[in-house]
Amino acid sequence: MESITVNLTKTPKTRPAPGEKLGFGRIFSDHMFLMNYKTGKGWYDPRIVPYGDLALSPAAMCFHYGQTVFEGMKAYYGVDGNILLFRPDENFKRLNVSNHRLAIPQIDEELCVEAVKKLVEVDKDWVPREEGTSLYIRPFIIAVDPVLGVHPGDEYLFLVIMSPSGAYYESGLEPVPIYVEPKYVRAVRGGTGMAKTGGNYAASLLAQDEAHKQNYSQVLWLDGVEQKYIEEVGAMNVFFVLEGEVVTPELHGSILSGITRKSALELLRDWGLNVSERRISIQELDEANDKGKVLEAFGTGTAAVISPIGELKWGDKKMIFNGGKIGPLTQKLYDTLTGIQYGRLPDPHGWSVKVCKAD
Ligand code: PLP
Ligand code: COI
Repeated sequence: MESITVNLTKTPKTRPAPGEKLGFGRIFSDHMFLMNYKTGKGWYDPRIVPYGDLALSPAAMCFHYGQTVFEGMKAYYGVDGNILLFRPDENFKRLNVSNHRLAIPQIDEELCVEAVKKLVEVDKDWVPREEGTSLYIRPFIIAVDPVLGVHPGDEYLFLVIMSPSGAYYESGLEPVPIYVEPKYVRAVRGGTGMAKTGGNYAASLLAQDEAHKQNYSQVLWLDGVEQKYIEEVGAMNVFFVLEGEVVTPELHGSILSGITRKSALELLRDWGLNVSERRISIQELDEANDKGKVLEAFGTGTAAVISPIGELKWGDKKMIFNGGKIGPLTQKLYDTLTGIQYGRLPDPHGWSVKVCKAD
């Protein structure tokens, strides 16, 4: 494995003051990680350099045909003064799944984890310490060949940038209202829905804009063929707590395989709950809710953590869950997951990975 070189900034930026409102993904730390790829040479020159703009040809392929993939993970300031990552190996396993779908070369997952650990260690003072904050980490790959023909690139750049962040939703743990998208679809089976690639998000923006105009914070996507079955929300997977069963849509190619989803499923099963990964139609959910059989609804995601869903608007109908308040299972999952992530609770599955001491 080629070793990672480090070139430290001579002009460190002013870090946000303790208690300053961070928002999400708006402020960037002092350094970033870069690595190049060329066909015939493979990935080379892994390096940590001062955070800064990139110089790319206007013809770079990523601008034109969207051959890009990304990941989202966080570094947490743990209660014992250690900086912790959560299941970073899962992020890079998924990055390679996305790479495969986007015809981007595979990358060394171990090297990626090493790169993130080293970058976090270099910028460890950027890990915020206030309740609910973290250092959001964004690894991504872009095709950079200056060529306008439509074909997989021969040159790529892998980067990691980091952003001290607060809650993804301004409302924090307050339940979010969500709009069931009636017209547009995000992804279809056989498409790129299971990959974390920019085009999926670009395709979601118009619907999100329309949802915002109606005061809904996010869009719930239905399947791209019949527009009947529940898929996922813009930046999170969804769960419904029914009487005697916790349901989340099964993964069948158009839904992102969330790492928080996977962790929530493992915790719910640890607790002996009856958990199903199955198709669930919006109609089934509505009928169950009319009968008072939907006890709670929540979303899962790295940025969103565990987010209670207070309301779903489906056509003229408004489904309200748990009186629009966070439910007990949602709260327990939130407490347990964040407890493990911040090192407050035991970590029986070994999900937490120590990077370094914070001081
Ligand atoms: N679904 C989509 C479309 C997402 O962008 C995300 C966020 O990464 C998720 C689900 C949740 O995935 P994870 O829990 O791995 O962050
Ligand atoms: C994440 O949860 O990490 C995401 O990538 C969601 C979003 C900001 C796209």
